[in-house]
Amino acid sequence: MAKINPPAARVLAIETSCDETACAILENGGRVLASVVASQMEIHARYGGVFPEVASRQHILSLAPVVEQALNQAHLTWRELDAIAVTRGPGLAGALLVGLNLAKGLALASGLPLVGVNHLEGHIYSAWVYRNGEPPPAEPQFPLLALLVSGGHTELNLMERHLSYRRLGGTLDDAAGEAFDKVARLLGLEYPGGPAIQHAARQGNPERFKFPRPWLEGSWDFSFSGLKTAVLREVRRLEASLGREQLPVADLAASFQAAVVDVLVGKTLRAARSSGARAILIAGGVAANQALREAFQSQSEFPIYIPPLWVCTDNAAMIAAAGYFRLIHGKTDSLDIDVLPTWPLSDMEG
Ligand code: KG4
Ligand code: ZN
Repeated sequence: MAKINPPAARVLAIETSCDETACAILENGGRVLASVVASQMEIHARYGGVFPEVASRQHILSLAPVVEQALNQAHLTWRELDAIAVTRGPGLAGALLVGLNLAKGLALASGLPLVGVNHLEGHIYSAWVYRNGEPPPAEPQFPLLALLVSGGHTELNLMERHLSYRRLGGTLDDAAGEAFDKVARLLGLEYPGGPAIQHAARQGNPERFKFPRPWLEGSWDFSFSGLKTAVLREVRRLEASLGREQLPVADLAASFQAAVVDVLVGKTLRAARSSGARAILIAGGVAANQALREAFQSQSEFPIYIPPLWVCTDNAAMIAAAGYFRLIHGKTDSLDIDVLPTWPLSDMEG
């Protein structure tokens, strides 16, 4: 087994849970020595969403060159690394298998320890990531309330310390990113919907349509499917009176975005106050949303930690960061681990 040298541990990470084939190398769980992301977005855009079989096949084609490229970017050899981290779940089973199998083979050949990482945990640890040459970000303080908003998940977790997650609530139906993607499709905007809605909303009036804010009082859960249906009803009504061509896409996008942002910010702030959190962390693809970032910054009395844009959507740097913290806490895995396509964050041992 290779010697682990915590003050300068270098972790190579692989991420293949969905439609990005990614590999990164980080030092100390933060400093990026290399980060390569091969996006399949254009391939899936023609299906209007991720096509699982196509994703797995594409990962097989892209992964080895992506890993090579990361090692070249970092100017490192296998001997200069301390561990291999890999996304084990949640995600698409076939896609996850491609990454896990390669990671196991590399760990076996190199003798490096293998660290299986939860993808959601990776999103949270994206807040520790910084580019080589830049100063490290301020360390989030615990207890830390983490709002995770991605294409597949929307949940609030209270972290009392590193690697410990107490789930306060989550979505009962659509994830926030999924709602963005579905509403974008209703409005005739391209996939992925989040950036498209944000772009269209810039020219729109967020107060023109009063879409519902599902507060679900008394719980920290979220629900976005009613909001999506309300947008659908409004679109149908407008199409009947104005015609599809005249649909006020910008106002619809801005009003929908405002409803999502209100609920996410409002509930997270209330949860932070009632749970004794000292700070709030926002992560996942939807954390790239400018309106959401601005609303948190302007409304929160708590320090807010939001990763830079490039690390909000899927990448392997965040998996390397989470992998580093698992490594230094002695949480390595054996070579016979399997993928876990549904792996709740709250199942991770604290
Ligand atoms: O975290 P991520 O890359 O993948 C998952 O783990 O799901 O998140 C992708 C999701 C998509 O639903 C996408 O529409 C959304 O994040 N997203 C955004 C923005 N950028 C990406 N949603 C709102 N505004 C954005 N700027
Ligand atoms: Zn993700």
